[in-house]
Amino acid sequence: MKRGILATLGSPLVQVDSPPGSVVAAKIESKNPGGSAKDRPALAMIEAAEDAGDLEPGDRIVEPTSGNTGIGLALVAAAKGYDITIVMPASKSPERRAIMNAYGADLELVDGEISEAKDRADELEAERGMVQLRQFENPANPEAHYRTTAEEILRQVEGRTIDAFVAGIGTGGTISGTGRRLREEFPDVEIVGVEPEDNAVLSTGESGVDDFQGMGPGFVSPNLDRELLDGVETVGIDAAEAEARRLAREEGILVGQSSAASLLASKRVAERLAADRGTGSTDCPGPDNSTAILSEEPVDYEPIDDDCPVVVTIFWDSGERYMSTGMFD
Ligand SMILES: Cc1ncc(COP(=O)(O)O)c(C=O)c1O
Repeated sequence: MKRGILATLGSPLVQVDSPPGSVVAAKIESKNPGGSAKDRPALAMIEAAEDAGDLEPGDRIVEPTSGNTGIGLALVAAAKGYDITIVMPASKSPERRAIMNAYGADLELVDGEISEAKDRADELEAERGMVQLRQFENPANPEAHYRTTAEEILRQVEGRTIDAFVAGIGTGGTISGTGRRLREEFPDVEIVGVEPEDNAVLSTGESGVDDFQGMGPGFVSPNLDRELLDGVETVGIDAAEAEARRLAREEGILVGQSSAASLLASKRVAERLAADRGTGSTDCPGPDNSTAILSEEPVDYEPIDDDCPVVVTIFWDSGERYMSTGMFD
């Protein structure tokens, strides 16, 4: 028995369909207690503020977020007994608002994007003494992924070499923290970022307007360690939505646009690695959904050849969080 909900942080690493001669696996972050990867930095940032003496019982937290960080913070604030105000662009999905509301957070919606939400959170911090956690700058954000996401992945690959880590970029916390730890273990691992085609600041230097939620903040986040990146892939919203529908219908995994974008980019990287290594005709078995639940005998999975390149990616949250966008209609 866990002594509290916050001890349930963590997610499985699950193999998904991959190009011939490669293996692609995704962290299913919807399994975290608040349903996304952002539960990790939410808990880490609150505990870092407590440790520094910046956050005490009776304080009110404020944070600008496009959603999942707000949900993670609202959950942690509820579990630990803090008040919280979330400042969010009005364009983000109503599911996110309803969930934060359910956890008891106060919401303030702003016109515009995350930059406008940041300005308003700065005002609330200055005028009302709220404690802002600043996910775009707070080192506890990448540190959470260094300590948890990456450590879980290292255990879950059971001794295999990871050849590439591919992830969307919002604050950059996930790719920087996870990437830094994976590179310590595998010096040759490729670290590849993903950003929206229409808001490809890292690839083009120009910001734009896009329909993704959580990736593509429209500026280069201070928490992004660009030195770690070997490349950046761009993905369009239509391709991502089509891939999310396919993943749900053909593989039984329900995710939103940015997870599907991370998967499309991962497959490009996997295809290239398989071509470079000439593993196209090597037997690299795909997902196996035989299950041992009703049998006495464990499933005897087909072994994966050591030559098969392994690409790990992140599925940020559940597709249930995006129903109102109509992407599954
Ligand atoms: C839903 C969602 N959350 C978060 C992120 C990014 O995480 P981070 O802020 O750690 O860069 C992404 C990136 O694709 C995302 O799609």
